[in-house]
Amino acid sequence: METIRFGIIGCGLMGREFASAAARWMHLTDPRARPEIVGVCDTNEALMGWFTSHLPGVTQTTTDFRELLANPEIDAVYCAVPHVLHGDIYPRILAAGKHLLGEKPFGMDARQNAAIMAAIADRPDLLVRCSSEMPYFPGAQRVVDFVTSGAVGDILEVEAAFLHSSDINPDKVINWKRKVEVNGDYGCMGDLGMHVAHIPLRLGWRPASVHAALVKRVTTRPDGTGARVPCETWDNATITGRVPGEDGGFPLVLKTWRIAPGESNTWSIRVLGMRGSAFFSTKSPRQWQFMQYEPGGPQAWSVEDLGYQSLFPAITGGIFEFGFSDAIQQMWAAYLDELAGGDARGFHCATPEEARDHHAILTAALASGTTGEVRTVDYAP
Ligand SMILES: NC(=O)c1ccc[n+]([C@@H]2O[C@H](COP(=O)([O-])OP(=O)(O)OC[C@H]3O[C@@H](n4cnc5c(N)ncnc54)[C@H](O)[C@@H]3O)[C@@H](O)[C@H]2O)c1
Repeated sequence: METIRFGIIGCGLMGREFASAAARWMHLTDPRARPEIVGVCDTNEALMGWFTSHLPGVTQTTTDFRELLANPEIDAVYCAVPHVLHGDIYPRILAAGKHLLGEKPFGMDARQNAAIMAAIADRPDLLVRCSSEMPYFPGAQRVVDFVTSGAVGDILEVEAAFLHSSDINPDKVINWKRKVEVNGDYGCMGDLGMHVAHIPLRLGWRPASVHAALVKRVTTRPDGTGARVPCETWDNATITGRVPGEDGGFPLVLKTWRIAPGESNTWSIRVLGMRGSAFFSTKSPRQWQFMQYEPGGPQAWSVEDLGYQSLFPAITGGIFEFGFSDAIQQMWAAYLDELAGGDARGFHCATPEEARDHHAILTAALASGTTGEVRTVDYAP
């Protein structure tokens, strides 16, 4: 099996998730390639000991990502740093000749994203993908398969949502994700937009126009020193778009909420159609729901326990639950499979073009949310 040597830039929450997925690669039964993490980089030196103590292959630790990029032993890079840094670091990774799996939103804003897209155009020899793991839940895959089989008929509405709730606590200490200068003007939309746009864009559902209702409820937060500081990022966004079609199209609702009471980390997709409907939520990670309707017949939803029926086969028995860390590993399996010449078993990671289109949607949504107007989405030609 081919080994692909990785460097990680950003050893925080998500850097550790990749390391964990790579460390239990034997979980997958038939991968084309395996990752070996050989270099790690973070400006916070204290974070790197965890990697060196758990990953025997790590031979380079550095606080300067340029040193990591100069390492000829590294084939590919996972970059998981605060949003403001994407626009500078992603192009440098590509200029160094490394394949890239970059975290969303793939540039803090449309301007940064354009710089990243230009760097990608300069290096067509490199495989570049954007992180988005939730569609790898088996139930999400079933919804995708249901739609592509043609079972839905004329679509009535699609809703994709990502709901968090920890920010409901006004005394939660502020971090970079709640600072406009580091996280970006999109706020919650930059955090969660790629997660909700990934499947709609993959299925070809591009809203031509959007209206966004933006909510800001917590305007100050503790800074950890006893003081309260401004918290200016948007908390919640409900984006309603219209996907064009011969019959007038249909509404696409994208919800990116950081304050959704009671929801710890719920991602869901609901497709409603005249002949078939389907729903999956990570709240019930083992199940998906679907309905098939014949005119005049009963309208009855079915619920099926799927268990661990993953895109990439794994050792876990099919009756057991699939979870967040499994979705992360499946996403990585898709990226590694493509790097090794495969087709990611038909569901590759989010592409740079999908990330670019999601920026077009979020840019229009931000303009809509701040003006109250419906905005046309300006996609790249
Ligand atoms: N796919 C997902 O489900 C998911 C979930 C959370 C976050 N994310 C994304 O991952 C990225 C990182 O988020 P996180 O939650 O891991 O944040 P984090 O704050 O936990 O980690 C970011 C790390 O980057 C480091 N860093 C900052 N500047 C650096 C530099 N110049 N060079 C090297 N390291 C630097 C920080 O010290 C920190 O350790 C963001 O783009 C975020 O949107 C994705």
